[in-house]
Amino acid sequence: MSSPLLFEPIDLRQIRAKNRIVVSPMCQYSALQGQVNDWHLVHLGKFAQGGAGIVFVEATAVEARGRITHGDLGLWSEAQIPGLARIAEFVRAQGAVPAIQLAHAGRKASMARPWYGNGPLTGEDAARGDAAWATVGPTVAPVDAGWQLPAPAGEADLKAILDAFVAAARRAERAGFDIVELHAAHGYLLHSFLSPVSNTRADRYGGGLENRMRFPLEVVRAVRAAWPAEKPLFTRCSCIDDVQGGWSLEDTVQFARELAKAGADLVDCSSGGISGSATAATKTLLRRVPGFQLPFAERVRRDAGLKTMAVGLILTPQQAEQALQAGRADLIAVGREALFNPNWPLHAALELGGDPEFGRWPRQYGWWLTRREASLQREGIARRPVQYPMKSA
Ligand SMILES: Cc1cc2nc3c(=O)[nH]c(=O)nc-3n(C[C@H](O)[C@H](O)[C@H](O)COP(=O)(O)O)c2cc1C
Repeated sequence: MSSPLLFEPIDLRQIRAKNRIVVSPMCQYSALQGQVNDWHLVHLGKFAQGGAGIVFVEATAVEARGRITHGDLGLWSEAQIPGLARIAEFVRAQGAVPAIQLAHAGRKASMARPWYGNGPLTGEDAARGDAAWATVGPTVAPVDAGWQLPAPAGEADLKAILDAFVAAARRAERAGFDIVELHAAHGYLLHSFLSPVSNTRADRYGGGLENRMRFPLEVVRAVRAAWPAEKPLFTRCSCIDDVQGGWSLEDTVQFARELAKAGADLVDCSSGGISGSATAATKTLLRRVPGFQLPFAERVRRDAGLKTMAVGLILTPQQAEQALQAGRADLIAVGREALFNPNWPLHAALELGGDPEFGRWPRQYGWWLTRREASLQREGIARRPVQYPMKSA
């Protein structure tokens, strides 16, 4: 394959990504007071060096109450801009597009970091310095039994949260980001308004689909108005709740049509998380097999006419390339595979035959690798693909 689609540049409004590989937003739970530190710079910097076209900063809280854990990044104050600006600048200097996901955790805020249990904060967490804080949701219903009861958001709360999204988007622009994604997935605040599982409000923000979509769409419209017209706006959706009577793919298609009208450019197609912790995925009906969320990206792209990003157990370059060739998505996001191999995009280019001279590699590396390759070839030694053992289930 001489010219893989995965490595064709893509234009999103006025922003060009050099290829179609995106590093998915991944919380590091490593911030202090919502502030970036060197961990975030190196974590994201290595993905930019690794050849991704777009590198996403993790879910970044628009207000302190909207953090998932004490370790989340935030963009609720001016003081949080410089740390993020350093990341955006470094990512751009490596030729990748700097992107950031803006989020409000809603009733899933005040959680323990994954390695401390991934549940609601307890007295044990407080003893370590991570005290619980009051959360907000569509109703007083908690995420699950034993979780904190959120305060139901009144209209004034909703206005304050909407304003916080807008202010954070403006700060993201000043920090130098070229793409903003609104997190409307995984059971966090915007998703909790969409889903009939969590939104049983009796006012104009609850009830039928149109009412449940109202607040998320208000946020999208307000952020779109504040975010530069030349820059793309993405929205991450849980395309299905994956529980009986939950938000469905049909609902997502309807929502995506409204998102298009509201000025969003792309739907990032994830799923699940409306009850229990977002990423632990213990109670799902949908089997976690390679590309398990690709059908969502395909359906939304076909029926809502919006660009889509596919994510979820996309492991091989061939799988990614085939999804693009078949028109199932416009962008391919990798999450854990990028943790496993931050150079995944560069390796993908080698595997798909798009980079025989290591020309996509940072020049600090490529020059050496070309010469090593020549010596290996002279000696008839093949570079071996990375192998790792799988435990049988
Ligand atoms: C460490 C970690 C942190 C994550 N944090 C976020 C996040 O901040 N926002 C989000 O929308 N999804 C988050 N996710 C989900 C990923 O973006 C991605 O959708 C998921 O891992 C599936 O893709 P994968 O199979 O390529 O990892 C996270 C996943 C991991 C592994």
